[in-house]
Amino acid sequence: MTGSLATDPRQRVSAMIEGYRRSAVVHTAAQLGVPAHLAGTRRPAAELAALTGARPVPLTQLLRALVGYGLLDQDDDERFGLTDAGELLDPAHPHSLHGQALYFGGPSYLAYSGLTAALREGGIAFDHVFGEPYYTHLDRDPVLAEHYHRMIVLPHGTGALIASLTDLSTAREVVDIGGGNGSLLAELLTHLPRATGVLFELPLTEPSAVATLAAVPGGDRCRFVAGDFRAEVPAGGDVHLLFRVLANWPDDVAATILGNCRAALAPGGRLLVFEMAAPDRVEEGQAVVDGDMNALAHLGGAVRTLGGFRGLLERAGFEVTAVKQVPGTFWTLHEATPAGAA
Ligand SMILES: C[S@@+](CC[C@H](N)C(=O)[O-])C[C@H]1O[C@@H](n2cnc3c(N)ncnc32)[C@H](O)[C@@H]1O
Repeated sequence: MTGSLATDPRQRVSAMIEGYRRSAVVHTAAQLGVPAHLAGTRRPAAELAALTGARPVPLTQLLRALVGYGLLDQDDDERFGLTDAGELLDPAHPHSLHGQALYFGGPSYLAYSGLTAALREGGIAFDHVFGEPYYTHLDRDPVLAEHYHRMIVLPHGTGALIASLTDLSTAREVVDIGGGNGSLLAELLTHLPRATGVLFELPLTEPSAVATLAAVPGGDRCRFVAGDFRAEVPAGGDVHLLFRVLANWPDDVAATILGNCRAALAPGGRLLVFEMAAPDRVEEGQAVVDGDMNALAHLGGAVRTLGGFRGLLERAGFEVTAVKQVPGTFWTLHEATPAGAA
């Protein structure tokens, strides 16, 4: 039955229209701490109500909904427990989606409600709703910023992937511009024993970055530098990384960031840009469009096509020297050097 319903156009469109309801319920469960209170145990609704500070009757409704979604189950003693899928919402799970639930069901979801105004009046959806830019908002909310930075971390192994896509054996100083909490830079350095790293990030990232660098292999060869890549980037590095940064920004800002990299790169240096590249024509089912809408809603950015990347890099004075696609994905590594720097 599920298969026939899933292919029924009415059902598919309804699922799109109503998808927010499940996001909101999961978000509520995460905010109340339901998964954390069920980690490794089972509890009746009344006990969960006392622990979460929620009212027992509507909480029971919420718990039953989570059973319906397959995130909880309920035994004959009326106690609720996490299913395998529900365990992913436990904040202590090694691959926890707790931060994602808090984040996407909260400010991110609200940002999308500003898309109509942004499309009609210009500006950025997030700013229409919150009255301030995205990163200004994060700066004022350290808890949210922490969730954001935990959520965006690329999986371990991405450093190895990058090291396999390009020869970095001669790299001396790798500057990761907008490098998040530094886990990727540190992992990359474990493959480059002679290189040091500079993690260049907004000041709001410093606490989580410093803690991460202190805890992961390779982190001891990285230093944190706070700043704004729209103004300048640290000079001296011979490899600049711009990973999942450009998609966040419209072309004029992206070109400014690239121009700042060009000005700061050491002679003979190169730039690596790692982003999803959208196909010229999108086909049904390609999730790359979700990334594109996400970039648009939060920061007025876009997931660019290969042609879009080339045009942007050339506009900022770079020459594209290699383009490598991660097989079976939209992830793409562009390598570029300052144009005319033979
Ligand atoms: C999508 S995240 C990518 C993080 C990391 N490069 C990765 O791929 O995991 C974008 C990063 O840019 C940083 N950022 C945003 N605006 C910035 C600015 N003006 N200057 C420096 N970093 C900035 C954010 O703090 C965030 O960590």
